[in-house]
Amino acid sequence: MSDKIKRIGVLTGGGDCPGLNAVIRGVAKPAHDNGLQVLGILDGFEGLVLGKGKELYNKDVSGILAQGGTILGSSNKGDPFHWPERVGDEIKIVDKSEEALKNCDAWGIDALIAIGGDGTMHIAHQLGEMGLNVIGVPKTIDNDLDATDQTFGHDSAVFVVSEALDRLHTTASSHHRVMVIEVMGRYAGWIALHGGLAGGADIILLPEFPFSWDEVYQKVMKRNMRGKRFSLVCVAEGALAEGEKMVVEETDIKRTDPLRLGGVAKYVAKKIEINTGLETRYTVLGHTQRGGSPTPYDRILSTKFGTYAIYLANKKRFGEMAALKGNEIKSVSIESAISKQKLVLCDSQAVRAASAVGVSFGTKDF
Ligand code: F6P
Repeated sequence: MSDKIKRIGVLTGGGDCPGLNAVIRGVAKPAHDNGLQVLGILDGFEGLVLGKGKELYNKDVSGILAQGGTILGSSNKGDPFHWPERVGDEIKIVDKSEEALKNCDAWGIDALIAIGGDGTMHIAHQLGEMGLNVIGVPKTIDNDLDATDQTFGHDSAVFVVSEALDRLHTTASSHHRVMVIEVMGRYAGWIALHGGLAGGADIILLPEFPFSWDEVYQKVMKRNMRGKRFSLVCVAEGALAEGEKMVVEETDIKRTDPLRLGGVAKYVAKKIEINTGLETRYTVLGHTQRGGSPTPYDRILSTKFGTYAIYLANKKRFGEMAALKGNEIKSVSIESAISKQKLVLCDSQAVRAASAVGVSFGTKDF
């Protein structure tokens, strides 16, 4: 009997982002060319628990390279180890990992390719410990996985932020206003940092560097006094002032991470207006950062990741995740990938470059 793998499952877990379909295509096309069958699992890990899957044929993955979202559907509420079950009026959290494994057996898949961020990699790792053959592909607009130099989806989100800042720039300058823009990123400031830098923000506020209100007010006032009668403030959803807490929009225990951040731009805009007297408006970019077509960079990275994942599967290098290291795609263990979150450091090159061109991070430290 040949010990080659014959059938793989693929799923997209957590929040969607541009490039997911390019990865699915990168997995399925070489798999089909090598005679492998590909089962698409629907709605992330929810589909694994509920047994929702569909065969992916060549025609299904043709023409999806530039398509946003995921043809498989996704969910950030389907963690098999943290499964919300309704009991009467209450939601109880139960473990459904055995069901997930039983479904994989019933489908006859030899390996599962899990495309997702830190939450997905945690689940993939736990399923791997239970004996499932898993391979990871790192996705997230947040770019907060330390094991890879970049996750796919981040570049597309930064593109959206940069374009929005360009648009806000012209209207801010016409009306002599302070414009505050709120971007995603959860507990990491990469989208705000890279998007703010690309879009010429004057102030960038990050979760990693709690800011001083006085520094923020002084920066906009100084610009005003120098004749720059507008300012652009790019604030990460997780940014917080010294001694304060992150602004939370909602807490939902059904989610892997129950906290949904949001609302900081409105708060920052109000404080700036009250304390500087300058007219201020805010914009929340929200899920526009996750929608639409991937940038060329993300299409290329996603294709490299997908094809590398099928290479790992063929080599039976289970428990590994594709990762960008410099210009090369390599692999790391999924376990090491979940051990460290990648956060912005004060000596990050982008932070130093931003400081050098006069960007304020709302702190005296640099
Ligand atoms: O992790 C991706 C992300 O977009 C974060 O930046 C954001 O905090 C979160 O997901 C939003 O989640 P949801 O789509 O559930 O609102």
